[in-house]
Amino acid sequence: MRKNFFLSTPIYYVNGDPHVGTAYTTIACDALARYKKIMGYDVYFLTGTDEHGQKVEETAKEKGYTPKEWTDVMVPRFKEMWKLLNIDYNNFIRTTEERHIKSVQKMLNIVYENGDIYLGQYEGKYCISCETFVPENQIAGDDCCPSCGKKLNLIKEESYFFRMSKYQDALLDHIDKNPDFILPRSKRNEVIQFVKQGLQDLSISRNTFTWGIPITFAPGHITYVWFDALVNYVTALGYENNPEMFDKFWNNGQTCHMVGKDILRFHAIIWPCMLFSAGVKLPSSIIAHGWWTSEGEKMSKSRGNVVDPYEEVKKYGLDPFRYYMLKEVQFGNDGDYSQKNVINRINSDLSNDLGNLLNRSLGMYYKYFDGKIVLSDTKDLIDDEIYTLWNEVVKEYQDSMDISQFSKALESIWRFIARLNKYIDESSPWILAKDSSKTSRLACVMNILINSLYKIALLVYPFMPDSAQKIWNQLGVNKNIKEEVIENLSGWDTLKEGHQLGKAEPIFPRIDAEALLKQIKAKNINPDLEIENVIDIEDFQKVKFNVVEILEVSLVEGSNKLLKFKVNLGDHIRQIVSGIAKYYPNPSELIGKKVLAVTNLKPVKLKGELSQGMFLASEDKKNGVRLIVVGNDIELDAHIS
Ligand code: ME8
Ligand code: MG
Repeated sequence: MRKNFFLSTPIYYVNGDPHVGTAYTTIACDALARYKKIMGYDVYFLTGTDEHGQKVEETAKEKGYTPKEWTDVMVPRFKEMWKLLNIDYNNFIRTTEERHIKSVQKMLNIVYENGDIYLGQYEGKYCISCETFVPENQIAGDDCCPSCGKKLNLIKEESYFFRMSKYQDALLDHIDKNPDFILPRSKRNEVIQFVKQGLQDLSISRNTFTWGIPITFAPGHITYVWFDALVNYVTALGYENNPEMFDKFWNNGQTCHMVGKDILRFHAIIWPCMLFSAGVKLPSSIIAHGWWTSEGEKMSKSRGNVVDPYEEVKKYGLDPFRYYMLKEVQFGNDGDYSQKNVINRINSDLSNDLGNLLNRSLGMYYKYFDGKIVLSDTKDLIDDEIYTLWNEVVKEYQDSMDISQFSKALESIWRFIARLNKYIDESSPWILAKDSSKTSRLACVMNILINSLYKIALLVYPFMPDSAQKIWNQLGVNKNIKEEVIENLSGWDTLKEGHQLGKAEPIFPRIDAEALLKQIKAKNINPDLEIENVIDIEDFQKVKFNVVEILEVSLVEGSNKLLKFKVNLGDHIRQIVSGIAKYYPNPSELIGKKVLAVTNLKPVKLKGELSQGMFLASEDKKNGVRLIVVGNDIELDAHIS
């Protein structure tokens, strides 16, 4: 019987667009889900959006929408992003859906009937950005949130409380008995320490705004957004409306929530206590990963350094981007997104190591055997090293993937790739090819390479699905790699006698680091830019600009440099003298044009002619000096500043 595996991303707040942080969790889940599928599991992969609460309500208001309208604007933006990133999810849940509202109300009612909800008064600090209550002893600095640093709000209202304290011992016991409940292990200890300090009851209702799920037993109160959001995982599996599916995936499957470390406590403490009280099984594991910074700094909208996956995919391609994110940091640790590192990774790991192995192998197969498989069993001792290493690598790969250690799994694959590149040099096919008595050995070497590439493709598939398929296609294998399972990889003669290999084409083109970095630098805003001869806005405001229409023009007598203009300012006419004769050999072309002029300069006489202003002009090598001409639709009394 096939085993079942349920995996979820957090459901993301729709207050802003998805970015590299949300992309990371989602890509990691996608890789894990695809891995479980090639391991033969029935996989259910869930993602979605968290749409209630004050934060979303406030954003909607700022943007001039109702909360529901706003969420309807944002949801497609998340779906588009996941499509771009090739995220193969089974279900996208929105917390505003009817199925979810019912599911939350069901759980609330059960918890209430269990006697775990009571009415009280909440008075304390709240972080809208994290949607969390911050106890007095955790407030940071000057009334700020210890997690995000934003200013806290005081709330004082009647509220229903969830008796979380009651489940403290049960939770500690569960964590103790299930070593994989919180992964990685370092994070597990953190949670244990926190719970041991004592759990307080949790305020789970609000009544000073309305954007939330109504509580059936408490008119006027809506559900606290986290009590609402966490339930999404069971909603999607049919907690309220599909007992069969719920049984299959939640009760009889491995269940896994992947989250960032910022929301581990909600998942590892509040959620299990809710489930204890509702009499629902706990998830098998909660996997927390670290935090991404951008070029060494915290990512933030105000700094303008938020990494946009659209940009990255455009620059580097989708699979290299996915590869980088999962290879760059050990899962669980923090990571820094750096353009330089992305380029290095792509060039060394993808272009050099994997790309070259594929290109060289195919190239030689075409050169020596016209790209048609010739079977041979002329083995050498050195071949055993490859077979043995492969077995080791597959085992390491699975061990790492089973605990979401993506970078380690990739390291194992790349150890095999490096060994194969060395194997090519050691067995030197080009020398074997010169000796017709060695043809059979040559075929054997080449088959080891080609079969290895076939296997490697499936191992990299969870990380780089399109590229893995391309590798198979280049090997002339037209099966859908998505349908394959690791179990089928054991043989070394997958490609049969006479099999026609496909066409070799570079899958991972090398990136010209210098050119690209230059381009990126030119595009980015530099907050420390040195500005020469700075002036204040007051200085600038002293200068008066006008749009003026040129009515007449002639050369100043006795000069071959100066032109004398009569210009219209709308309410009066002036004379301006300008040294641009050289650049306008046919000055009458300017008549009727509207140009820009400074009109509060002290009047001067030039070669005896009065000048009551100065034109603005540009000068460059190609065009020489040109007056700044504005569109004819601009009025003469336009205010220029
Ligand atoms: O917390 N580095 O939603 P959210 C790594 N709605 N991961 C990051 C990241 C970064 N710089 N920035 C964001 C919520 N993430 C709730 C969840 S679940 C029942 C409710 C990822 O939009 C990471 O996975 O604030 C983090 O946990 C999540 O986005 C927070 O997304
Ligand atoms: Mg957040």
